[in-house]
Amino acid sequence: MTHDERLSTYAQHVQQFLDDFLSEKDCIGQEKIIKSMRYSALAGGKRLRPALMMEFCRISGKNPEIALPFAVALEMIHTYSLIHDDLPCMDNDDFRRGKPTNHKIFGEAMAVLAGDALLTEAFTLATTPQNLKNFSAEQIVKATNCLSKNAGVFGMIGGQVMDIESEHKKISYDELVTLQKYKTGALIESAAQIGCILGDADEKQLHAAKEYAKAIGLAFQIQDDILDIEGDAEIFGKPIGSDAEKEKSTFPSQIGLDKCKEKVKTLTQTAINAVKTGFDESSFLIWLAEQLAVRNK
Ligand code: IPE
Ligand code: IPE
Ligand code: MG
Ligand code: MG
Ligand code: MG
Repeated sequence: MTHDERLSTYAQHVQQFLDDFLSEKDCIGQEKIIKSMRYSALAGGKRLRPALMMEFCRISGKNPEIALPFAVALEMIHTYSLIHDDLPCMDNDDFRRGKPTNHKIFGEAMAVLAGDALLTEAFTLATTPQNLKNFSAEQIVKATNCLSKNAGVFGMIGGQVMDIESEHKKISYDELVTLQKYKTGALIESAAQIGCILGDADEKQLHAAKEYAKAIGLAFQIQDDILDIEGDAEIFGKPIGSDAEKEKSTFPSQIGLDKCKEKVKTLTQTAINAVKTGFDESSFLIWLAEQLAVRNK
């Protein structure tokens, strides 16, 4: 299997699982909220976080498909964060994943509720006994805790708070790194960590996975900020210039585009070196880090 094929196989599994879990068949009386959840969750997206989780599970020695309930739960949390991030009270953006944003189609109240529901049902999924036959109770508790912690106040939410609070302001470079570590880094790191927990990785592997995810997480947000300036909206699937319009504290606004591009390259190398120290079979993750560094969507 080529790396490309592996990545699309992971994405297909996620799509299928989401389609079944958010089924329109068994939702009598709740058609509207399910429609709104499906609209965003099934709209595609790169499925980066599930791919990371499944691959870390695989290279820790287990079948990557056993990680699917947690991989899909994480993707649901990520999707909820995007629905809320686009709301008029936050980034006020009209396009996401190449389509009008959730609130543009379903209205603000339904978009808030669809986000809330994706977050809540992610934990239903991650704790449904028939999905978890492959794991010990300890693995399930550790993975679920990792999921909730990284989505919470000292994770993605905390980062979103800092992001909103630092609009129209000059913050220090270190503060910006902390902001991104929470806002984007936390969910990406949780993907790697949970993959290791479910794959029964050893301490050395877990450490390598965390270092890899930390570096690609930072590179990922820097590249996102670059694309918000230089990207093509059609390909990127979301508006260009949104950050500047809101005077966001971003990496290009802090250090300029050229330094940002250098940083993406060095962080990618850091990630590659880290994953090699923990895993023999790291070629997919090396390839993935390289792809992310030159992505245009
Ligand atoms: C967008 O994440 C939000 C950021 C953390 C920059 P992705 O770029 O992974 O979005 P999708 O899932 O591919 O749509
Ligand atoms: C938001 O960062 C990351 C989230 C936690 C949702 P951005 O606001 O830069 O993400 P995009 O560019 O809208 O996807
Ligand atoms: Mg935002
Ligand atoms: Mg945004
Ligand atoms: Mg952005």
